[in-house]
Amino acid sequence: MSRLVVVGVQWGDEGKGKMTDYLAQNSDVVVRYQGGNNAGHTITFKGQKYALQSIPSGIFNPTIKNVMANGMVINPKAVLEELRRLNDMGITDYRLFISDRASVVMPYHLALDGAYEGIKGSNMIGTTKKGIGPAYADKYNRIGIRIGDLLDRDYFALRLREALTVKNMELRMLGLDTFDFEPLFEEFIGYGQSLSSYICDTSVLLNDEVKNDSKILFEGAQGVMLCVEHGTYPFVTSSSPASVGVPIGTGIPPKYIDRALGICKAYNTRVGAGAFPTELDGDLADYIRNRGREFGTVTGRPRRVGFLDTVALRYACHISGIDSLAIMLFDVLSGVGELKICTHYELDGKRIDFVPSTVNAYSRCKPIYTDMPVWTEDISSCRTFDELPANAKAYLKKIEELTATPIDYVSVGPDRVQTIAVK
Ligand code: GDP
Ligand code: IMO
Ligand code: MG
Repeated sequence: MSRLVVVGVQWGDEGKGKMTDYLAQNSDVVVRYQGGNNAGHTITFKGQKYALQSIPSGIFNPTIKNVMANGMVINPKAVLEELRRLNDMGITDYRLFISDRASVVMPYHLALDGAYEGIKGSNMIGTTKKGIGPAYADKYNRIGIRIGDLLDRDYFALRLREALTVKNMELRMLGLDTFDFEPLFEEFIGYGQSLSSYICDTSVLLNDEVKNDSKILFEGAQGVMLCVEHGTYPFVTSSSPASVGVPIGTGIPPKYIDRALGICKAYNTRVGAGAFPTELDGDLADYIRNRGREFGTVTGRPRRVGFLDTVALRYACHISGIDSLAIMLFDVLSGVGELKICTHYELDGKRIDFVPSTVNAYSRCKPIYTDMPVWTEDISSCRTFDELPANAKAYLKKIEELTATPIDYVSVGPDRVQTIAVK
């Protein structure tokens, strides 16, 4: 099994960064295939904590090729700042490749992201305000700028003039500041020069790696429930984190994707707005939020927390063809006063086992729970499944039963070493 997709199967922040870094130790290539710096992937090893946004989580190992593929939306200024931060932390020896076909997040995308949220008022999505939605919209509207464009002055000038004609009209309509061509052009030509040594046709690189039977990890950002196609639309991001996003986002045909590992917290969290059937409040929510340090990596926002929802999880596993699961932040549940798993929803008096397509119906879904026995032992130093308390094992077994999916990994702390390989 050479090519594995790491997919978040909830609403993001499941611990994809930690698991990608852990699995990267045996990989040749790590690839981000969608999203941009709306992601915040935290990696901890040797007492040091790193927060990555656009850069793939294999960056710490100098032998790994890290690819930012065509499906991403890339803010070049943010990437250069991220590289500078890594440099300041001593990460100087790495291999990075950026697709010439990836989309560029421009400053007007950031302005529009904020403006659209403002217009929506109480219906705002709660985006990360990184310009992700507007950048993807321009890509599909065929007025986007691509990373490779920044390397060709004449061509970039044409593309930027065309984009600015439309975008400045839109900005003016919204009462926002418009952008002058010259300074924006020179600024982005500069970013192109700074990043030029990384820019290439990554689909050629990746297909060569496939031919060589290299071990490739595809690092999803966000999670299936935030997928623009299959998530809780419109409270979603603007790309497809599901494994279906890999072929389109990388240029590797679907037949070469071998396996999908679903990254799943032992409970649920969500940042931003949108229905969340198992959401908790009060002391129980505070206990989980504080133990799990559930505050956004990108925005610092407190994450909404709830009991594990296996209706949404089963759905996400189907959509992404999940072969096995990694259960993350399992240590957080030690000592929790009450523990439940959602098995079904009740919608308008009927018991259902699916995720309704409209947020309207989804927000009327009430969770139906099965009670689980709690445990109080600290499990953060367990390194084998057998060392876990009986009730913790029962919880994992229940997840396997309810999802009909085996658990391959259990994470009991943020550090790379705090990982149980079940088999
Ligand atoms: P990602 O976006 O899916 O990569 O996840 P984030 O990095 O945004 O959020 C996961 C958070 O949980 C980070 O702060 C991780 O350091 C932390 N984390 C990951 N695995 C574990 C675990 O097993 N236990 C605990 N306590 N923290 C974990
Ligand atoms: P990682 O990769 C959690 C959420 C935002 C908002 C919605 C749309 O760290 O798991 P966007 O800025 O993408 O237009 O926001 O999606 N969101 C995330 N939530 N983890 C993420 O990434 C997220 N990326 C976006 O909070 O609700
Ligand atoms: Mg995150």
